[in-house]
Amino acid sequence: MILMITGGAGFIGSNLILYWLKKYPEDHIINFDSLTYAGNLSNLSSVEKHPHYHFVNGNLCVPEEISSAFEEHRVEAVIHLAAESHVDRSIAGPGQFIQTNVVGTFNLLEAAKEHWRENLAKHRFHHVSTDEVYGSLGETGFFSETTPYSPNSPYSASKASSDHLVRAYRHTFGLNVTTTNCSNNYGPFQFPEKLLPLLIKNCLEQKPIPVYGDGSNIRDWLYVTDHCSAIDTVFHHGKEGETYNIGGLNEWSNIDIIHFVCRLLDEALGRSGKDSCENLISFVKDRPGHDRRYAIDASKIQKELNWRPSFTFEQGIRETISWYLDHQDWVRLVSSGEYQKYYKQQYGSK
Ligand SMILES: NC(=O)c1ccc[n+]([C@@H]2O[C@H](COP(=O)([O-])OP(=O)(O)OC[C@H]3O[C@@H](n4cnc5c(N)ncnc54)[C@H](O)[C@@H]3O)[C@@H](O)[C@H]2O)c1
Repeated sequence: MILMITGGAGFIGSNLILYWLKKYPEDHIINFDSLTYAGNLSNLSSVEKHPHYHFVNGNLCVPEEISSAFEEHRVEAVIHLAAESHVDRSIAGPGQFIQTNVVGTFNLLEAAKEHWRENLAKHRFHHVSTDEVYGSLGETGFFSETTPYSPNSPYSASKASSDHLVRAYRHTFGLNVTTTNCSNNYGPFQFPEKLLPLLIKNCLEQKPIPVYGDGSNIRDWLYVTDHCSAIDTVFHHGKEGETYNIGGLNEWSNIDIIHFVCRLLDEALGRSGKDSCENLISFVKDRPGHDRRYAIDASKIQKELNWRPSFTFEQGIRETISWYLDHQDWVRLVSSGEYQKYYKQQYGSK
C-alpha cells in the first residue's frame, strides 16, 4: 500500500511513521509536510534512507502541491494529521488555523475525491482529530462519539470544521472515511511549547514552570504510541463513515501532573529540598476561554475494535522523561529564536 501521512514531521506524525515502518515494512509511506515551526525532519533521521519512506515538502494550502504528490506517488490511502495544533497560538493568530485546518483539509479531500474517483470505496481516508471539538465538561461525564460539538477555541473550532467536511465528503460523495478524536498526547518528539515537554525543558534549565490559572484544569492523557496503535486499528478495521473516540481513562489536573513529573524529575536529576523542580512552579494569568475538563469515553473502540492502551501512565511518563533527558540536543535544535520570542509574549506577564 502507498500511504500518504500528512504532518509526518510533527509530534504524532513522526511517531506514527516510525511505528508504521516497523510494523508494516512492506507499505510505502509518503510524508507530506510543509515543515512549519512544529515540523522537524530530524525526528525521522532513523528512517530517512528507508527504501519505503519518502518525504514531500508540500503545503495543504496549495492544492497543486497535493495533487502532484497524489499523482507522482500514486497515493492509495491517507492518514491526515497535518494541522496547526497549539491552542495558545490559535488565540494569538487564528487565521493560519483556518487556512491549514479548514481550507487545507478541504484541499486534501478534493484531491482524494479527484484522484480516487474511479473507485472511492477502495481508498481509505483517515482523519485525525481531537477531543477538544466537544467543548468543556463539568465535574462529571465523558465525551462520547454522539456528544454534540461545542468547540471553544479557534483551534478546536477549526478542527471541528475539518471533521464536518470529512463527514460531508462521505455522505455526499461516498469517500471512504474514518475519523478519530483523541485526548491529550504525550511522548517523544513533542515540541516544547506543550505542557509536558515545556515542563521538562524548564526544569532542566532551572526556569519557571508556567501554570495557567490555579492549575485545576483537567485533561485525559494518552501515550503517543497508544494513539498510533489506535489510528492503526481504526485505519485497518474501523467501519467506513464512523468516528471513534480515543483516550486513556487517565484524568489529571494540570497541577497534579506537574507535581508528579517534578517528583520523577527530581529522582532522575538527583534534586531535592530547595533544588527540587517543584520550586520552579509559577502560576500565570489563565488562558482566555480555558476549557475546564476533557474526558473521553473510549468504550466504542474498545468494544467494537478491541483496542486498549498498552502503556500505564507511569510507564509512559518515565519513557518520556528519559527520552527528553537523552535528547537535549533535539530540544535545543527545535527551540529556535522565533520560538523564544513567542514564548516571551505568551508567558511574559503575570
Ligand atoms: N498533540 C495532541 O495531544 C493531539 C491530541 C489529539 C489530536 N491531535 C491532532 O493530531 C494531529 C497532529 O498533532 P501534533 O501534536 O502532532 O501536531 P504538530 O503541531 O506537532 O505537527 C503538525 C505537523 O503538521 C505540519 N503542517 C502544518 N501546517 C501544514 C500545512 N499547511 N501543510 C502541510 N503540513 C503542515 C507541521 O509542519 C507539523 O509537522 C493534529 O491534527 C492534531 O489536531 C493532537
